[in-house]
Amino acid sequence: MAIRHFLTLQDLSPSELKGLIDRAIELKKLHREGKSPQPMTGKILGMVFEKASTRTRVSFEAGMAQLGGQSIFLSPRDTQLGRGEPIEDSARVLSRMVDVVMIRTFGHEIVERFAEYSRVPVINGLTDAYHPCQLLADLQTFVEHRGDPQGKVVAWVGDGNNMCQSFINAAQMWDFELRVACPPGFEPDPELVAANAKWVTVVNDAREAVKGAHWVATDVWASMGQEEEQKARRKQFADFQVNHELLSGAASDVIFMHCLPAHRGEEVSADLLEDEKISVVWDEAENRLHAQKALLEFLLER
Ligand code: CP
Ligand code: NVA
Repeated sequence: MAIRHFLTLQDLSPSELKGLIDRAIELKKLHREGKSPQPMTGKILGMVFEKASTRTRVSFEAGMAQLGGQSIFLSPRDTQLGRGEPIEDSARVLSRMVDVVMIRTFGHEIVERFAEYSRVPVINGLTDAYHPCQLLADLQTFVEHRGDPQGKVVAWVGDGNNMCQSFINAAQMWDFELRVACPPGFEPDPELVAANAKWVTVVNDAREAVKGAHWVATDVWASMGQEEEQKARRKQFADFQVNHELLSGAASDVIFMHCLPAHRGEEVSADLLEDEKISVVWDEAENRLHAQKALLEFLLER
């Protein structure tokens, strides 16, 4: 059977995606009951991190262990990847030793090249262009709190990069209306937007995007690799903070998500982040664990 990779949400069909979210919810329940299945016994996950991580690393490592498997953390600092060994060679070698590989890196083409040369499934743990694992957790969280997102109005406020672009993929796959609000010059890839025009609109006004929204999400203004732009971006994104005042124009049952880490007082106000009536960020973070366990099962159990 052909290997399946998970480089963007589009590597699943909409029905596979829905099945995976249902399974994540079931695995969460089983875990709480102390009945985690262990289908990964004897399997190994290789995790390549070229950027920092808390949630992605811990959720994959804990998830793999709960499923009976093991994981190996690999950073460029102490592997040959950091000394220039080609990605194609690393892919061929690692995929002869482990059963599945997760990569967090910069250019999206790096995970694509790795997958091309890999004998085992490859999971995108974040690139500059997409963060599909986070969207699995976010979709699970919406389903748990509000039910099916189909037909809902979702607003993305902030940078049009990796998280936003994975929301665009999710809108198409789950059939919800996505309104993206970015400062001029920070919009998502126009080709991706054009290809998803049925679901996505892009504006430069956060209020307009949030009007009547059932689900509002944001992310840091300067992503990993953009640290030197942090100061300039603080000014450019100043009108894009998600706070109670902005959400006063949203639906009365709006929920707020943030992939974390959050910068309180920048992209989100401290009091909104901590407002448990609206903000579901801690459930969202926890769901990385359950959603990725469902993903590992899906990729390895077929
Ligand atoms: N949301 C997320 O991917 O967090 P980490 O950078 O901590 O993995
Ligand atoms: N957009 C952020 C997401 C971190 C999980 C980044 O790329 O740094």
